[in-house]
Amino acid sequence: MSNNNNNNNNTKPGLAKDDEDVRVQSTNDEATVARASCASVGHIPNDPYSVLFVNRTKVRRNEPLHNLGTFYRVAHVRKAIEMFLMSDDDDDDDDDAEEEDTVKYAKQVINLGSGYDTSWWCLVGNNASSRDGKEESTKRSRVKWYDVDFAEVTRRKIKTIEKHEALREPLGVYHFERDGSELRSTSGYNLVSADLRDAEEIKEILTEARVDWQLPTLFVTEVALSYLNGEKCEKALRMCATFNGESSNSNNGSKDRNTVVANRAIVSYEAMRLNDEFGRRMCRNVREQRGTPFLALEEENGSRVDCASVEAMFLRCGFDSVKCRKMTECQDVLLSREEIYRAERLEMLDEREEFNLIQSHYGVSVAVRGDYFARKYRRWLMHSS
Ligand SMILES: C[S@@+](CC[C@H](N)C(=O)[O-])C[C@H]1O[C@@H](n2cnc3c(N)ncnc32)[C@H](O)[C@@H]1O
Repeated sequence: MSNNNNNNNNTKPGLAKDDEDVRVQSTNDEATVARASCASVGHIPNDPYSVLFVNRTKVRRNEPLHNLGTFYRVAHVRKAIEMFLMSDDDDDDDDDAEEEDTVKYAKQVINLGSGYDTSWWCLVGNNASSRDGKEESTKRSRVKWYDVDFAEVTRRKIKTIEKHEALREPLGVYHFERDGSELRSTSGYNLVSADLRDAEEIKEILTEARVDWQLPTLFVTEVALSYLNGEKCEKALRMCATFNGESSNSNNGSKDRNTVVANRAIVSYEAMRLNDEFGRRMCRNVREQRGTPFLALEEENGSRVDCASVEAMFLRCGFDSVKCRKMTECQDVLLSREEIYRAERLEMLDEREEFNLIQSHYGVSVAVRGDYFARKYRRWLMHSS
């Protein structure tokens, strides 16, 4: 595996450029262990998959504070994705789909910095043909999904997928691309390797991977943009909001923006600085102890200081409407009281004050462009800017 490269200054698309990138990649291991712990305690329903990505010796039960934080993170992001996948008010052209040999995709999800995230298996792969009724199965089977990360990470993800039937089987027929760092499957699931810091490269690579820029597309980021500096983060977000598959020469911003692209949204769970003592300490610790700075948070006046600055950033990047909520302030918007009660009862948290302090430094943002997503996320966007 290529994670021993020291200062390799690799120029190949999607590969780590230096040691810091390798450390950023290793944050995926932590996230995976956290999700596996959370799933094995019973917090995340229908996720027998996360644990398959964890080395047996590393499977453990995390502390309640950690498990509960991971539960709220995963539950919010997955609920927001599910709302998109299962909503009813889509333009319905099922008749056409049945007449064609190939699947006619209706929706698209692109998870940037996905690591070993298992959302596709939980929300689509596991359900596409079995548990639901026909109508719901059809909806799920018409989802095109792209998980995107550094090539080293996607390559390792592919190895694990190949090892376990439970991960492999829902993919249908699949093949590899780009030296085995990418995967395409007949189920609509795709793995793509790209460096998020290079927006031009991502556009090209996603287009090569047959992203359909005309489909309603939901981007997802879960603690991935935090590792990009303000400028690169905004370039990536602008790509999410506005890129329509045309080359940069023809898409020079002079066109009426509504004719260029529509129906984009992003669900983003990321850290926030808040410019208080805890926020400064969080940034210092991440830099000094992990060697993986939250570049997006390092500046006192940057774009991830608080919910207001995060919202301003999404609007600057081309989204029409956005709402960012601190994790301490969003529980009952997406999750039901039963879900919250169940999770809280499983952990019996003693350190409530500390938990709230940590949670207040993370937020979920939903930003939309076009009426389609404005309708889907109306409840979340209420009181939006
Ligand atoms: C903290 S992990 C989170 C992984 C996953 N989103 C989750 O929640 O489990 C951060 C992920 O972002 C990826 N990442 C960070 N910077 C990246 C970049 N410039 N290009 C591609 N991936 C990147 C890392 O490789 C890692 O997999």
